[in-house]
Amino acid sequence: MKPISPYHAPGFYDAALTKDRHRDIVGGRWEETGLVQMQLLLSQGLDRHHKLLDIGAGSMRLGCRVVPYLNPGNYWATDLSGALLRRGYDREIVDKSRLNPAQLIEDTDFDLPGVPEDIDVAICFAVFTHLPLSHLQAALPKLRQKLPRLQKLLFTVFLAPDAAHAKPHRQPDGVVTHPDRFPWHHRETEVLQAARDADFQATLSDPYLPRGQRLCLCLPGA
Ligand SMILES: C[S@@+](CC[C@H](N)C(=O)[O-])C[C@H]1O[C@@H](n2cnc3c(N)ncnc32)[C@H](O)[C@@H]1O
Repeated sequence: MKPISPYHAPGFYDAALTKDRHRDIVGGRWEETGLVQMQLLLSQGLDRHHKLLDIGAGSMRLGCRVVPYLNPGNYWATDLSGALLRRGYDREIVDKSRLNPAQLIEDTDFDLPGVPEDIDVAICFAVFTHLPLSHLQAALPKLRQKLPRLQKLLFTVFLAPDAAHAKPHRQPDGVVTHPDRFPWHHRETEVLQAARDADFQATLSDPYLPRGQRLCLCLPGA
């Protein structure tokens, strides 16, 4: 049976890290995608004193830009692979005095083990694009509950119009997404309902992000 995402295939991280492909396996387009995330956060008011959680942070494509910006110690990251986070830390974080590697946390189910409660802003970029809707529906209530001081959550998804949902769908950037395998697309109504069910007020914004992803901005309180 096909794994739910490439990341869930047995041996995926070991094989990629052995080949030194830590940038490629988060999707490449390293500079552009790191910059887009940084710009999104700044446009949403991220300040140096905020505590930021990067969920599914991978190899620090955002971390290498945002760690120098934030006050030291204010960046936390989770990922399905702790090894990928640590490789990103080793290779991409220039001033290591600004980030304690204990703040890079392996987390398979969005349980946020060891993440402090006083996170202000969270971002989950190009993660739910690789997961079925049920994972988004399960993750959002956990994030809402475990981060009581959260001011903003930003995440990305692929969407398909209702009429095209059941089939493969070509996104504006050329990526073909699917209803039943990765990269996954969802219906706009389902994504917004999942956010509402988790007590978030959510909006999906244009324009399209790299690969045709859409940004969902969530504020606490439905
Ligand atoms: C396309 S990459 C994006 C990485 C990072 N957000 C970025 O934009 O550079 C997807 C990431 O999601 C992680 N991931 C996949 N499933 C996950 C899960 N259930 N919980 C946490 N991270 C997950 C992968 O390990 C990978 O690092």
